[in-house]
Amino acid sequence: MIQVIENKFLLTGKEYQYAFYVEDGKLYHAYYGANLGVYYESCGKEGYKVELPKEYSEFGRGDFRPTAIVVRTNESLSTDFRFDSYKILDKKPSIGLPSMRGEKQTLAVVLKDLRLNLKLTLFYTPYEDGLVRSVLLENNGKEAVVLDKISSGCFEFSRGEYETIDLCGRSNAERQYSREKLGNGVKKLASSRGITSHQTNCFMALLKSGAEEETGEAYGFNLIYSGNFNIECEKDAYSRVRVIVGENILYGGIELQAGEKYYTPEVVSVYSIDGIGGMSRNFHRLYRKYLINPVFADKIRPIVINSWESVVYNVGEETLFEFIDGAKGLGIDMVVLDDGWFGERDDEDRSLGDWYVHKTKLPNGLKPVIDRCHASGMKFGIWFEPEAISPNSDLYRQHPDWAIHTNGCEGVQMRNQFVLDFSNANVVDYVYECMKNILENNAIDYVKWDMNRSLTDVPNAKKYRDYTLGVYALYNRLTASFPNVLIEGCSTGGARFDGGILYYSPMIWTSDNTDAWCRAKIQYSTSLCYPLQSLSNHVSDVPNRQTKRSIDFETRANVAKFGCLGYELHIANEKEENRELVKKQTAEYKKDADVILTGDLYRLRNPYQDGAFAQIVVAEDKSRAVLLYVRESSVLNGQKEERLRLKGLEENAKYVVEETGEIFTAKSLLKVGLDIELKRMDYSSIILHLSKVK
Ligand code: DGJ
Repeated sequence: MIQVIENKFLLTGKEYQYAFYVEDGKLYHAYYGANLGVYYESCGKEGYKVELPKEYSEFGRGDFRPTAIVVRTNESLSTDFRFDSYKILDKKPSIGLPSMRGEKQTLAVVLKDLRLNLKLTLFYTPYEDGLVRSVLLENNGKEAVVLDKISSGCFEFSRGEYETIDLCGRSNAERQYSREKLGNGVKKLASSRGITSHQTNCFMALLKSGAEEETGEAYGFNLIYSGNFNIECEKDAYSRVRVIVGENILYGGIELQAGEKYYTPEVVSVYSIDGIGGMSRNFHRLYRKYLINPVFADKIRPIVINSWESVVYNVGEETLFEFIDGAKGLGIDMVVLDDGWFGERDDEDRSLGDWYVHKTKLPNGLKPVIDRCHASGMKFGIWFEPEAISPNSDLYRQHPDWAIHTNGCEGVQMRNQFVLDFSNANVVDYVYECMKNILENNAIDYVKWDMNRSLTDVPNAKKYRDYTLGVYALYNRLTASFPNVLIEGCSTGGARFDGGILYYSPMIWTSDNTDAWCRAKIQYSTSLCYPLQSLSNHVSDVPNRQTKRSIDFETRANVAKFGCLGYELHIANEKEENRELVKKQTAEYKKDADVILTGDLYRLRNPYQDGAFAQIVVAEDKSRAVLLYVRESSVLNGQKEERLRLKGLEENAKYVVEETGEIFTAKSLLKVGLDIELKRMDYSSIILHLSKVK
């Protein structure tokens, strides 16, 4: 809901309220927190007027905290944006970037800098579960200006003690949970790699000190963007906190010519009084309803078997036939042919960019392989790395200038490859035509879009943005031409796990690390922001490729089931016992997937600190729930198993635990707990199903 009362603006969702006001022509922040039903001002007025909490802070005019916008000309570094007018739009503006869907009323507040002739519009769209913000800058002057910084949102918080949660990590250990007390100064989470990155994620939670999983106040911020981003969180001298979220414009800035305009990506912010879990559930509902492509949102994704970890580059016709035959009859829906099927791709050193079928490995093309899949009752999917170019490729020999480069510098190779310059429309055209050719001429239902390195040798700041726009342009064209092809996102595991990709790709490969305990951790923290239906999880062989650890087959599957289940093993070589287990797992998953993918998630044990990973997903109508418990280390004979207090159940109902037939009142499950019994071994796990007794 949007309300404007004189110079006061009030935005309200189910749980939250957000308020700001105009005074002497400037915008000040008033309140962001629980829904109080009336306009409320909580941000203190300590200090001089220039130090009051700003609605959209600007540089150079007395605000010495991190600012939301910095515009530079030859003569100045500062702006003086003043309130001009506001409008309530019937729907959100179209910003030319992936953004939250739905025709939602949007408040557009116009500010003007009269000296530079700049018009700045702040957009606010209050969804039930969170607030979405973005900004438009229009240069109505006669001269170009340089944008050194333009953030999607600035959020102010009143004096107090706060903590943050961030998701920093590395390859094979993406999005590791880290909670810390917010100290003085600025905490900064940013990417300058041209992609979201393994190293950090464009998400941050701000907690009022003391907030826990289901209690206390938690705010979440997530940028809907897949390129360089910047999140700054500052605690100032009065213990007030400011959070700035936006694109990370790098050195030199971006020139905005006279007459040009610039849209920022959207930032989604959620608030919950029900702690970290409440924050996550708000994000999940928002993304399921308004971000994920409705063609796939809330639908059960196909169970895939992917060739990568078992076959690697050895994807000849015979090997694939064997692979497909092995997968037949196990409840698997889709065979995915990963890397190695194109150009002369016999190893990592060549052929990226040459998107035509490998003549010696697949002399008869893809058709016999696809036919074999169909005859075995499965669909077929294929891997591309659209943004990559190998120096040893026909494409590079023809168009060396299509790799991102800085004139006069030898390009930096990573994984023996360069990145294509997606800011060049001809490049995007070429890749689109190649992919279209393969997709049009073959019965393909799924694409895995991989991206395997950071950007280097980028000659200027604008190219980073234009590169990301080029990626979205290709996604737009592919999803328009092939609306029913499911495109899974991937980036050396999960280096591009963000809302921008999620807008197009309903599921994203979470990590190349498929060790069940490492995955438990990665999935736990990824779910802080992203819904389980966006996590692509595979069961792979042991010893695990990354950790060399051997975890029980059932636990591997139990962890993978809490998301989009798939397999990545040499299924034909698996022992009969495991093949039978796969049959059982896929059948069980198909029964549970509607709850797991669309229910409300409650985290019960944190694998980073509890030595156990436990979560329960409760159907929206609370009629069913699926519980997962994984214990890291075995317990001694006689040692008591854990009694686990459940969450999310309907308080006055009774539930039956299907595995044991025992009936409990929800109150006892919520307040006393359920005894968990596991096989005595390391990494033991169990899935339990609860149904409401009618
Ligand atoms: C990196 C991905 O994360 C893997 O799943 C696999 O597709 C390889 N690339 C193939 O090169």
